[in-house]
This record gives sequence, structure tokens and C-alpha cells, in this order.
Amino acid sequence: QAKVEVDLASIPEGKNVIIKWRGKPVFIRHRTADEIKEAEDADWQKLRDPQPDDARVKKPEWLIMLGVCTHLGCVPIGEAGDFGGWFCPCHGSHYDISGRVRKGPAPLNLEVPEYDFPTDESLVIG
Ligand code: FES
Repeated sequence: QAKVEVDLASIPEGKNVIIKWRGKPVFIRHRTADEIKEAEDADWQKLRDPQPDDARVKKPEWLIMLGVCTHLGCVPIGEAGDFGGWFCPCHGSHYDISGRVRKGPAPLNLEVPEYDFPTDESLVIG
């Protein structure tokens, strides 16, 4: 369907959830304070696809992005890789805790879909 609603109260801090939206996986991570700091402190101008963390999130504690590697479309694994985020096992792309590519063949950061927070405890994707 066009939009999917997610109950954020059911996702504890430090956990990932994967939902399906338009046939694609969407990663939702409830980031910890340490992860937010790491994402914000990164020297993003030097990255392959340079984006500050605040251009990728609407609320620092919620990272929402398509779970589709920007190389050839595999689904990256969470809590893996050299940069505290995701690792794509197909050809070895590493993404950080903001979903930015740090290493490997992926050309771009993980894509952020359209989404909104209708209330403090809910997320609508699409
Ligand atoms: Fe992810 Fe190639 S599809 S590294």
C-alpha cells in the first residue's frame, strides 16, 4: 500500500526493526545517545556521498531508510560492518549509523524515504 504506519513505542532504544513498504524493506533504528553523537560528529564533508546527519533524520533518535544497498540492491545486515551501522554481504559495502556509505562499492548513502511523525509515538512511511 502507499503508506504504512508504525507504532514507535514498540521499538526500544538501540533496536532495529525492518518493515515492508511498497515491496521494499525499510530500516527503522531507534538510535542511542552515543549513536546520535557518533553520527553527528562524523567528518561528513569527506565522505563519498557527503551528507550531514541532520539532513538524513527528522528526529535524531529515529533513523529511517530503505534497506536496499545502493550498489546492486541487496539488503544490508544491521549492527554489522566497520562503522557501527550496516554491512552489505553481497560485495562488502559498509554503512555508518546514519546510513552513509563509508567503504566498499556502494556509490550512495542508503536512501531516506518520505515519512512523517503524526504523533510522538507513531511514524507513517510514504
Ligand atoms: Fe551491496 Fe553490492 S549490492 S555491495
